[in-house]
Amino acid sequence: GAADLGGYRYYMQKEIFEQPRAVADTLLDVTSIMPELFGDNAWRVFNGVDSVLLLACGGSYHAALTAKYWIESLAGLPANVEIASEYRYRDSVANPKTLVVAVSQSGETADVLGALQVAKRLGMTNTLSICNVPTSALVRECALNFMTRAGIEIGVASTKAFTTQLVALFLLTLALAQIRGRLSDEEERRHLHALRHLPDAMGKVLALEPQIMAWSETLTRKENILFLGRGMHFPIALEGALKMKEISYIHAEAYAAGELKHGPLALVSDEMPVVAVAPNDRLLEKLRSNMHEVSARNGRLFVFADVDCGLSPSPGVSAIRLNEYYGPLSPILHTLPMQLLAFHAALARGTDIDKPRNLAKSVTVE
Ligand code: G6P
Repeated sequence: GAADLGGYRYYMQKEIFEQPRAVADTLLDVTSIMPELFGDNAWRVFNGVDSVLLLACGGSYHAALTAKYWIESLAGLPANVEIASEYRYRDSVANPKTLVVAVSQSGETADVLGALQVAKRLGMTNTLSICNVPTSALVRECALNFMTRAGIEIGVASTKAFTTQLVALFLLTLALAQIRGRLSDEEERRHLHALRHLPDAMGKVLALEPQIMAWSETLTRKENILFLGRGMHFPIALEGALKMKEISYIHAEAYAAGELKHGPLALVSDEMPVVAVAPNDRLLEKLRSNMHEVSARNGRLFVFADVDCGLSPSPGVSAIRLNEYYGPLSPILHTLPMQLLAFHAALARGTDIDKPRNLAKSVTVE
């Protein structure tokens, strides 16, 4: 009811602004990095795995994709991500030494449960859930579990569940890195420090809402939007496009920026806005040249840039400046403007934001 909306008009908006709290709660018991955060047996299990297989659907799939970048980079383990509905029905080569990670807010998504069954039937018994509902079927079915503490999520479009999944997956990455001798005490301290300050940093990004709202006034009049990102921010561009289409019904697609010239560039014109996720990481120069490709075709760019990118607005290029680059946790910060942009575009269009047409919060049937 209106009472639990706490002054907000929509649950999605409330849940967007709850994220600093949700992340802080998810980190509540984390005073150091250790496998036991994932269950009593986790040390033995993690120590015996040679790769990671992540299974998920929807937004949770994008969280899992981000984790692939983290796990391969920081833990040095091969990681693969599969859409649960694809994995469960394809012939795959099983590796009993894989850690199977099922990522699901609800823990009741039929395809995720189905994919997990397939993995188990193929002899993969090292299973871990990252889930927001302790009483869910997924948690019962997995050997190890990590509970996100987003609290109940009501908006059909996932927000706080997504960012807390990322926090959980980052902790998993660090635990795997530690077991493999790839996390020094100094690095552990540095990552814990960044995690502890994440809620504050998120608060600063959420304060950009008025600027994002101003952009949504332009974007809401368009029929198509292209989202671009690179590296670990490519999944964040995917998540931005998903949010946009789910709740505003504007057709939105995300591309890895390097793929622009292999197709989507043909669509770019002054009628096709392009939203770019621009963290100040080692791919910035590459992204910059992708943005030039857009400008040269009269595409209108809307760039979410870290303040230290040195990117300033120019004709055809609008920029909103985020915090300074936040290292490997940067995708979490860059998620927030994606959510706010979709929310305000939907608000301007007058859609049923918390219950978009044809969609369900939890897809428990195929
Ligand atoms: C539905 C929801 C999405 C969610 C997806 C996966 O499509 O609308 O917000 O990302 O299911 O749900 P899960 O509970 O498995 O994370």
